[in-house]
Parts: sequence; C-alpha cells; structure tokens
Amino acid sequence: MVVGAHRRVIAIDGPAGAGKSTIAKALSARLQMKYLDTGAMYRAITFEAMLRDLDLNDQALITNLAQECDLHVGLDRVIINGHDATTAIRGPEVTGNVSKVAANSGVRTEMRIRQQEWASTYGGGVIEGRDIATVVFPDAVLKVFLTASPEVRAQRRVAQDGGDVAQIAAAIAERDMLDSTRADSPLASSSDSVVVDTSDRAIDDVVDEIERLFLERTT
Ligand code: DC
Repeated sequence: MVVGAHRRVIAIDGPAGAGKSTIAKALSARLQMKYLDTGAMYRAITFEAMLRDLDLNDQALITNLAQECDLHVGLDRVIINGHDATTAIRGPEVTGNVSKVAANSGVRTEMRIRQQEWASTYGGGVIEGRDIATVVFPDAVLKVFLTASPEVRAQRRVAQDGGDVAQIAAAIAERDMLDSTRADSPLASSSDSVVVDTSDRAIDDVVDEIERLFLERTT
C-alpha cells in the first residue's frame, strides 16, 4: 500500500489525441473520483487573452491575467471571468495559440498552484495534462503516460472536431514539438509512469487496466 499526500491522484499525461480525455473521464466515472482537464485551463487563459486582444508574447501581462482570473473548469463547462468558453477553447484559434501560453512559466506556476489546491479540496482525482506526473503531482499514486501512433491520433481528432487528416496531423506534430521542447515542464513521461499505447485498444480495455493498477496500489 502506498501512503502519501496524493494517494488518490491518478495522473494521466500524454500528447494530443492519445485518448487522455476519454479515458480519464471514463476512469473518474468508474472510480467515482473527480476529473480535472488541465489542458482546458491553459486553453481558457488563451481564450480570455485573445478576447481582450492581449499580446500573447507579453509574458508578464499574460501571467497577470492568469493570476487574476476567476476560472472554473468543470466536467461540462469551462467558465473564465464569467464567459462561457466551453466551445471556443476547442476552436482552431485557441488551439493554434495555446502552446505559447502554456510555455509561459508565470502562467504554469499559477496553474500548478490551482491544480494542487483543486486536489486538496476534492481529496484527489483523475487529472490529465502534460506535466501532471513529472511536476504537479510527483507523488501521485498512479502515473500513466498514454501514447498512440501519429496517424491514429490525427484520425481521432478529426472524428471529434472535423477537419482534414493531413492538416490536423501536421498541427498535432507542431504542437507536440512545442510542448516537448519548451524549457518549463515539457511533455515527457516520468520514469515511474506506466506507458500505455492506446492505438489498437478499446477504451474500456485501457480503463480496465488503469483501474486495476489503481486498486492494486490503494487497497
Ligand atoms: O490537452 P490539450 O490539447 O487540451 O492541451 C492544450 C495545451 O495545453 C497543449 O498545447 C499542451 C498544454 N498543456 C500543458 O502544457 N500542460 C498541461 N498540464 C496540460 C496542457
């Protein structure tokens, strides 16, 4: 049995289209644990900055926005400063700019604090992102790094949001490159993460595996 502050945090990291959201949501429903999509937090800050026409390269200005904002990321809704950003954060404008905001260290520090507070408030949860195992919850009881082949990831995004497979594949590759090479908490698997390739597997099968690992470690 693992004893620690984050016995009840399941960290799910991985690149875009690896199946993180689908699997993390299914897992949270199954285990009756809260779910947090940390990518939606970076997307919401990007949305609000664009709405205000702020210069995304002005690190201090965007950090200040992140620190001051009233942000609520729930299962069905993302609200920032009273604006319902649920749909807009998935659009191409936000998607095209979010890596810039996610590379801002001031923004990352603020989001990290909010994510840790969230877990304290709810006594843990299923938390998905890029740096959850490596930086935000290094003592999570279970760390999973989801991957899938680039073709499968592009096809999944097209099935979800529409678009052209070749274009989406190029956009995903660009975003992965930016997310993996940034200086502050880049996308990477933790040495103690369980790496799961979801390319040829059914959702339920992957959820079963993660559930089993979690129960083994906590009961
Ligand atoms: O998972 P997503 O596509 O919604 O993530 C949006 C962006 O935010 C993506 O470019 C990576 C970044 N991100 C991050 O840097 N750290 C996280 N914990 C989650 C997302």
